[in-house]
Amino acid sequence: MRIAFFDSGIGGITVLHEAMKQLPHEDFLYFADTLHVPYGTKSKEEVFTFVKKCVDTISKEDVKALVIACNTATSIAIAELRKTYEMPIIGMEPAVKPALEMNRSSGKRVLVFATPLTLKQSKYRDLVSRIDDMGMVDSLPLPELVDFCEQLIVESQQIIDYFHTQLIPFDLSLYGTVVLGCTHYPFYRGVLKKILPSHIQIVDGSAGTVNRLIQILTHRDQLFGRGDGDLKFMCSNNDTAYIEKMEKALKMLRNVGE
Ligand code: DGL
Repeated sequence: MRIAFFDSGIGGITVLHEAMKQLPHEDFLYFADTLHVPYGTKSKEEVFTFVKKCVDTISKEDVKALVIACNTATSIAIAELRKTYEMPIIGMEPAVKPALEMNRSSGKRVLVFATPLTLKQSKYRDLVSRIDDMGMVDSLPLPELVDFCEQLIVESQQIIDYFHTQLIPFDLSLYGTVVLGCTHYPFYRGVLKKILPSHIQIVDGSAGTVNRLIQILTHRDQLFGRGDGDLKFMCSNNDTAYIEKMEKALKMLRNVGE
């Protein structure tokens, strides 16, 4: 049985990559909703329908757990998905809590990058209001970054210029941590390290999500360790060129060792 990962496009590969590093003896399935990527600029209702359809398809495969490797899909559909399917479903949310903890002693602020749809959801707003009692969290939607990422435009002047423009309103000396609250964004960790002042730490939810996955599978006695890292890519429009793109994206992450 495989561990499945789902995202609108190639973003969830950043989480898959982390899981493959930590679980070399499991087998994996990765599903991208190529018919509807990007999710972050669409309506909640549309995204809910798209996610439901993809998860239906995934549930027909031989899978033992599903990671919704997409902050946007998680914020919209996770509760409903858990009611519908028996397999364990692990979601993602922007790593605001660890970021706030990292800044406790310095008193610096947290800047959360995510899709417009994630930032609009009550799930995100409730999370922030629950843990940000001092009003230290700001957010910035970066929808264009998902489009760049889907074209595998990662290290280019265009990206550097894009970040510089987006960050103009922020006095970066006040911030201690940037949270990558969309699974596409860790592809830009390298670029961000060059652009952001060196005191700013960059966090994302991949490792936390994989730890949760391991906990759940261990608890269910379903971590077999008999696989060999076999990986099956699927996408909603069955496009072989896109499958090649996903393979290339995984290779890119392996090359930078992120
Ligand atoms: N990768 C996704 C996320 O984590 C969604 C990006 C998109 O489709 O807009 O939010």
